Formats: sequence, C-alpha cells, structure tokens
Amino acid sequence: MRLLVTGGAGFIGSSIARALLARGDSVVVLDDFSTGHESNLEGLDGDLTVERGDVRDDALLAKLCRGRDAIFHEAAMVSVPASVEAPRDCDEINVRGTVGLLEAARQAGVGRFVFAASAAAYGDDPELPKRETMRPSPLSPYAVSKIAGEHYLKVYAELYGMKTLSLRYFNVFGPRQDPASAYAAAIPKFVSVLLAGEAPRIFGDGEQTRDFCYIGNVVHANLLALECEEARGQVVNIADGESITINDLVAKLAEICGVSGTPEHVAARAGDVKHSRADIAVAQELLGYEPQTSVADGLVETVRYFRDLAADAAS
Ligand SMILES: NC(=O)c1ccc[n+]([C@@H]2O[C@H](COP(=O)([O-])OP(=O)(O)OC[C@H]3O[C@@H](n4cnc5c(N)ncnc54)[C@H](O)[C@@H]3O)[C@@H](O)[C@H]2O)c1
Repeated sequence: MRLLVTGGAGFIGSSIARALLARGDSVVVLDDFSTGHESNLEGLDGDLTVERGDVRDDALLAKLCRGRDAIFHEAAMVSVPASVEAPRDCDEINVRGTVGLLEAARQAGVGRFVFAASAAAYGDDPELPKRETMRPSPLSPYAVSKIAGEHYLKVYAELYGMKTLSLRYFNVFGPRQDPASAYAAAIPKFVSVLLAGEAPRIFGDGEQTRDFCYIGNVVHANLLALECEEARGQVVNIADGESITINDLVAKLAEICGVSGTPEHVAARAGDVKHSRADIAVAQELLGYEPQTSVADGLVETVRYFRDLAADAAS
C-alpha cells in the first residue's frame, strides 16, 4: 500500500513507518522535526520518502496526499503544558492541521484516515474504566484539539464516506520515546535517570495509576485500523487495559536496570489525574485488537533500547 505518515519522525509515527516499511509498503513521512528526530528514521530500508514540512502547509498536503491509499495522522503539538502556554499554536497545528489534511485527503481521493487521538479527552472524570461513550471532559487546549479532531473525522466519514478512525492512545512508552524534551513522558525519563544512577523523582505519593501501553501494541492497532471495514469515524481506546501505580512502575524499572532506585517524592502536580485505566472492548470488537506485549516485557525492551543507546554514545 501507499501510505502517508505525518509526524513520522516522532516516537509513534516513526514506529508506524518502520512497521509499514517492513511489510513492503511505500511510505511518505511528513514532519517538521519540531519534536521528532532524524535518528528515529535511521537505518530504515525500503520505499521511504521523508518530506520536511508543516501540516499547516495546504499546498504541500495536496502534493503528499496524491496517490496515497491511507493516512496516519500523528503530527501534533503533543505537550499539554505547551498547549496551555500557546493555545493558538495548538489550535493551528492540531485542529487546523487536521482539517487541512482531511480536506487534502478528500480532494485527492484518499479512502482512509487514522488519527492519533488522546486519553486526555477523559480529563479528571473519576469513572473507571474509561469508555469511549463517556462525556469528554477536556482540561487543556491540547485535549480540546484532540476531541475536535475526532469530531472532524466522524464528519468526514459521514459526509464523504471516508473510512476514518480516531485511536485514543493512553500512556504510550517504548524505544525512541524522547527522554530529553522539556515535557518528556514519565517512562523514558525514569529509565534515563535510573541508568545514570540517579534518584527518580515521583510527583505526589506515587499511588496514582496509569494504563501504560507498549509502542508495539499501538503500532499493531494502527495496522488493524488500516484493514477495518467498519471504520466510520469511531473513537477507539488503545491501551493495555490494566493499570499500574507509579511506585510499582519505578520499582519494576529499577529492578530491570539493576539499581536500588529509591525515588524522591516531590509535590504532586496540579491537574494530574489520580487514576486512569481504559476499557479496550471497542478496540477488541471493532479492530480485533489485543495487546501483544505486556507492560512488564515492554519495560524490559525499553530499558534495553536506552542502555544500548547509552553504550553507543559512550563508544
Ligand atoms: N505518546 C503518547 O503517550 C501519546 C498519547 C496520546 C496521544 N498521542 C498522540 O500521538 C501522536 C504522536 O505522539 P508522539 O508521542 O510520537 O510525539 P512526538 O513528539 O514524538 O511526535 C510528534 C511528531 O509530530 C511532528 N510535528 C509537530 N508539529 C508538526 C507540524 N506542525 N508539522 C509537521 N510535523 C509536526 C514532530 O516533529 C514529531 O516528529 C501525537 O498526535 C500525540 O498527540 C501520544
């Protein structure tokens, strides 16, 4: 197949591109490298074209959509705090960028569009597990922008019969996730701190829970979305379906890293939700999705990746 992956130099987009190339697909990556890295695409074999550009560039989108069978739209302003600092930029990139891409896809006759939505849509609603039928409760411009994207995908399915799906990712982790950015996610940050022999910092008492999902499962869900005949704009949770406390997560990581890793607890962050866990029944029924890799195995893979990276950097 001929695919376009926006945000394809990022953590999730590059993992999707990698899997598509391994299947023999033709892949165009569009990325502005604002948070993505060329190194994420190093060593990839196959029919890959990398286009440095912006999802707000309509002329470029028109060119890149031509002749493509499907689009994976991963490019976004990904950080919640960044979206609070710059809500207009978040709206431009995440909402305007998504509408522009849908419109370019429609005009080019692209039949399928898979969107990286987010569990941020659930906000701090205490109900567990999180089901797609729950009323969204966005707490940030980022969450609003992702919900808007979901609605646009549904509208494009209804108006034009485009096969669209919004995959609401929970906390994704794994190789190539950036530990260095100002808004880095928890797991790569914990791993790099533990491997450096330092004490990980946990916000609050550490008894908050999260549904962490290994990147391989997210890629698997995207590949299933490519085949889903019933795609009509549905929103689908993509997660492990189980949750783990941050204290247990850090203890597991410390064990894998072979360090004591006694954490330092610092003040809880305002606005952090206490518990999160997904109901993955829709993903199971609609996509035939089952997590392929457990959190425990995914953590081992992740530590191995960062350890190898550190060894390469040292040699
Ligand atoms: N990582 C998670 O846990 C998680 C959870 C929920 C949703 N998501 C969503 O998944 C997608 C991928 O996230 P990620 O974790 O891989 O983050 P990432 O930062 O590694 O990837 C995002 C990519 O988009 C690119 N990009 C940003 N703005 C762009 C623009 N204007 N034009 C072109 N490219 C642009 C970046 O350079 C980067 O390569 C995002 O849409 C994010 O909101 C991620």
